[in-house]
Amino acid sequence: MWSYWLSIIIVYYFRFGEKLRYSGVVKLLRLFKDYKVFTDTYIPPNLINREEKLSRLVDFYRYMTESPGEFSRIAVIYGTVRGRSGIGKTTLAKLTATRIAELARRNGFTVKPVYVNVYSMTGVNQILTSITSQLGIRGVKPRGSSPIELMKAILDDSIMRNYYILLIIDEIQSILRRRGFSEEQLIYLFFRYTEIFEGIVDSYRIYPLLVVFDMIEWGKMPGQLRSMVGLEVGLQPYKSYELYDILYDRIERGLVDPTRFPPALVEMISDYLGYDKSGEGNARTAISVSRQAVETAEARGDDAVREEYVREALSMVGTFKVSEYSVESLGLHQKILLYALTLLSLKTEGDWVTMGVLEDEYKTVCEWLNEKPRVHSQIFEYIRELSFKGLVQTSLSGRGMRGRTTLIRISPDIPVNPLKMLLEKELNMA
Ligand SMILES: Nc1ncnc2c1ncn2[C@@H]1O[C@H](COP(=O)(O)OP(=O)(O)OP(=O)(O)O)[C@@H](O)[C@H]1O
Ligand SMILES: [Mg+2]
Repeated sequence: MWSYWLSIIIVYYFRFGEKLRYSGVVKLLRLFKDYKVFTDTYIPPNLINREEKLSRLVDFYRYMTESPGEFSRIAVIYGTVRGRSGIGKTTLAKLTATRIAELARRNGFTVKPVYVNVYSMTGVNQILTSITSQLGIRGVKPRGSSPIELMKAILDDSIMRNYYILLIIDEIQSILRRRGFSEEQLIYLFFRYTEIFEGIVDSYRIYPLLVVFDMIEWGKMPGQLRSMVGLEVGLQPYKSYELYDILYDRIERGLVDPTRFPPALVEMISDYLGYDKSGEGNARTAISVSRQAVETAEARGDDAVREEYVREALSMVGTFKVSEYSVESLGLHQKILLYALTLLSLKTEGDWVTMGVLEDEYKTVCEWLNEKPRVHSQIFEYIRELSFKGLVQTSLSGRGMRGRTTLIRISPDIPVNPLKMLLEKELNMA
């Protein structure tokens, strides 16, 4: 019998539930109208407070939409403050490409935006394969083909089907220090391909737009590449009023009733995270905090976002990475090592430090704590473990330094100050 009633209820819920909910008869509260606008993959139609940067880039690539093929220009987008994420670099690049493609279409040309994030790619072939698959080029065999063959397939296809490629290469700084990539190869393939294919390709088909993490990383890029770049667009972390606008836009798009997220609470988030108020200036974090606050309200059956939900969400960003990776469970010397790295990180504003520098700092902290420092190989092992836990990142130095040495930094998504405070507590230093 009960199952009969249950099925009636379920049927009615699905047929009329939606109407009833919004009519207020049933207070099964839903605050989200479009959850995806709060997710990382959503690309906003406009870049709020960055219109001027967008139009500079669009102007720079505008010739692609007017007389493509004649020459090629390259622009780069980077952060102006060291180590800051979520400041709109990738989104700016993607929107530039969309706008250029639209303008070209109006003039009767085809520009195809292609986006590759090379952060986790292992070699040039992987980049080229991603490009061929985004362009829908059939008949290429990535495994058996050389980079030159893949490149030729791309150029042939663009000539045959008459289109131009706006190629966004995101996080390009990450590959140049990695095995599997040679600078030469990369530069010739993407930036000087007309020389390799002289006589075969008589016009420019690929227009690179580079995205680099920050200006320090940009400074470390090969001079040959840097000298080819005609426009550098630097982005600052967001100030609070800018974050406020970005958040309000998402709230208007994403909530059934935007007034359920009171402006004072939006301000609370943007003030906490605004770069001008010593926050990170990270739009991604700001958006995710708002999403969490709304989720909490929904989960608790509340009809609006309350201050305590925002506070809860904010308290998680300050320490969430840190507690998530459970600093508490690290061994004593791992904690000391990590603490030494936080000190260096604050001194160098988050830049990479060499193994030698870190070891010296570690020994100093050991002295403060009256602890006998561990030997080099053991420290190496600790770093490997910390890196495995996502607390630090490691990289190999370029050939500029004598030999190759390991470089280390605190993972960029971890706020250093809360980590330092936590470690001080753990090491009984506070
Ligand atoms: N000006 C803006 N207007 C609207 N949304 C924005 C703006 N800037 C950033 N965002 C949003 O913030 C999030 C992070 O932006 P984005 O991924 O472009 O940052 P990033 O600088 O590339 O970060 P990372 O260094 O981590 O790659 C995205 O969800 C993006 O949609
Ligand atoms: Mg990015």
